[in-house]
Amino acid sequence: MSKLENAVPGYKHLVVEPYTPNIGATIRDIDLAKIGDEGLRAELRKALAEFQVLFFRKQTLTPEQQIEVAKVFGDPDKAKAFFPRHEKHSVIEVLEARPAGHRYGTDQWHADITFSANPPTGTVLYSHVIPQAGGDTLWASATAVYDSLPRHLQLYLEELEAVHSFEHSGWPQYFAQLEEGDAIYRQARADHLPVVHPVIQTHPITGKKIVYVNPNFTDRIKGLSRQQSDALLAFIFAQFQRPEFQARLRWEENTVAIWDNRATVHYATADYDNQHRLLHRVTFGEDRTF
Ligand code: SIN
Repeated sequence: MSKLENAVPGYKHLVVEPYTPNIGATIRDIDLAKIGDEGLRAELRKALAEFQVLFFRKQTLTPEQQIEVAKVFGDPDKAKAFFPRHEKHSVIEVLEARPAGHRYGTDQWHADITFSANPPTGTVLYSHVIPQAGGDTLWASATAVYDSLPRHLQLYLEELEAVHSFEHSGWPQYFAQLEEGDAIYRQARADHLPVVHPVIQTHPITGKKIVYVNPNFTDRIKGLSRQQSDALLAFIFAQFQRPEFQARLRWEENTVAIWDNRATVHYATADYDNQHRLLHRVTFGEDRTF
């Protein structure tokens, strides 16, 4: 089948090819450096809502152009994590892993920065240096997970709230690798008290229900004992492992992935010990995530 025959109907400006039945699409024949047309921008937003993660190969973007891409979807100057920042553009986080260098602990299912009150609504990740093999990223659809649950469990989860904290994640171990780590950790604790989010959220664009917990940042479910909370969260997290709900990207240099940070969780595979991996990340958001 040719790529045009495989394209999803309903798009005038984009060639959209599904990546898996439940999540993901590749957008063909587009130069993300030239997306001024409002019709095309609207279709990019539509495709992100529909497919949850979009892949673009063979892109050449300056840092400014990557920021412009993020602006199609939201405000790039919202919640950020603790990655080093680009020297000229502080909204760009530099995700760099060198042989024997720092590791960030992103090899755990998570949605970006749910330890903040208003987490990003999405992310633009652009690859600069990619290991010859390894360093893939996986996304799982948190709406597909919700849809798969029995109705009585959906109803029960809809009444619950969960506590999210960066302390639950790999960030404290990352700080411990840094020279000024103690001070950075103290500041992070002062700036980011634990926050509470409903366990089930509704996507404001699609109206779909989302399982909004993740093993990286969700510490516990309020109102349950630690044992009950751990057991219930472990059951939910196990659903992210189902290949049916996942898309796995094998990066090449100059690939862009854009994901819906409300509707998905992702996992950066840490299987490239002796190789260099460098990506630029621009998260984007709104005043209220939900
Ligand atoms: C992230 O968790 O945002 C980074 C994903 C990656 O490095 O592939």
